[in-house]
Amino acid sequence: MTTTHDPVAAAERCTPAYRRNPHPVYSALREAAPVCPMTPPHGVKTYLITRYEDARAALSDPRLSKDMYGAMDAYRRIFGDSSVALDDNMLNSDAPKHTRLRKLVNSEFTPRRVEALRPKIQDIVDRLLDACPTGTPFDLLPAFAFPLPMTVICELLGVPPKERSLMQELSTTVAQTGLSEESKRAQQQADEDFHAYFTELIARKRSKPGDDLLSALAATKDGGLTENELVSTAFVLMFAGHKTTAYLIGNAVYHLLANPAQLRTVQKDPELIGPAVEELIRYDSSVESSTFRYSTEDMEIGGTRIPKGALVQISLLSANRDPLKFENPDEFDVHRQGTAAHIGFGHGSHYCIGAPLARLETQLALSSLFRRFPKITLADPQAEPAWMEVPFPAFRGLTNLPVVLQPAAS
Ligand code: HEM
Repeated sequence: MTTTHDPVAAAERCTPAYRRNPHPVYSALREAAPVCPMTPPHGVKTYLITRYEDARAALSDPRLSKDMYGAMDAYRRIFGDSSVALDDNMLNSDAPKHTRLRKLVNSEFTPRRVEALRPKIQDIVDRLLDACPTGTPFDLLPAFAFPLPMTVICELLGVPPKERSLMQELSTTVAQTGLSEESKRAQQQADEDFHAYFTELIARKRSKPGDDLLSALAATKDGGLTENELVSTAFVLMFAGHKTTAYLIGNAVYHLLANPAQLRTVQKDPELIGPAVEELIRYDSSVESSTFRYSTEDMEIGGTRIPKGALVQISLLSANRDPLKFENPDEFDVHRQGTAAHIGFGHGSHYCIGAPLARLETQLALSSLFRRFPKITLADPQAEPAWMEVPFPAFRGLTNLPVVLQPAAS
């Protein structure tokens, strides 16, 4: 197990042991250094916030800017010369620009549009499960958890089926958080390819609109999105809209299989799927930390002084296990009271715009999987789960999830 006597070193080195189980390290940080300056492998000093109350306050603190143009040097040192054009969206802006962009997207990405996708999502889930083998071990991630959200986000945006493998390929390259020059060059190329693809797709939507979200966004007129904002918004929805949900489905299936009593509880009462998904997001979600913010003035959080211009990251994973907020936080309990207070989807003006879609997809995926295959097991229940290694905490997800499905009647 990762040493916890020096939690700062353990967290900043992001060792495999830490990746396997970061929770003891976060627990030590919450106790000893809840707002902790550290230098992760990307080399840029970052203040990491780990307590729930500090985290929630920081997520909506206007002194912490999301407009990365203001911290370009730090940003470039971490990500290289990736296409800044793709960052022209709500995730990387402050009010009033953020308010304008978010309002425009909200006007089309409505709960109604999400609910209208329900039969389509169910159909995609059913087809993917039809194609899964039974009675033999296979990896559930590439067979189910990954293609589901990718297909759904392409349906939502109106990416034609033949072009979806390109989206998959480019997203995989962009998601690589490798810090080598080669990795950064590949990411930059993928960013440029994304930009070119969405520019061309938007032109197609303008000449021949469909009933998809991108056509609707492209049609907003006066005061609408600029061309570059539109391309960048398509990118952020595509990118944020599938890896997050795919990793969550993987983490959720793993924890339910590793906790059979909890799984049986959900199987006996299908109404529990909603609360179970919330508890899974609190317990071990796919977005470990917030995106970067930087301080626009000297400030203090949780008693720690943060100088103007410093990078700040908020550990959502840690905040959601804070015992000052959640009783017995390391226990996974689908009947837990107060789970809804988790900040797995963030908080404040940047609260995840895709949360209703992510919830719907995860609920349909889990209910269908466990209904159709009630005897699903981990292929090797004794094996350590293979958590992804990243040079700084952003996503938390498995690299593979071998399972065995037995048909219901066997
Ligand atoms: C389990 C799945 C998901 C998780 C855990 C998740 C988590 C988050 C979090 C924590 C934030 C806030 C980041 C910050 O403040 O630094 C966020 C923002 C965002 N998410 Fe998600 N997300 C998920 C799914 C989705 C989906 C399906 C979409 C799109 C279809 C999406 C689109 C976005 C966008 C555009 C933002 C930026 C919102 C803004 O800046 O106003 N996410 N998400």
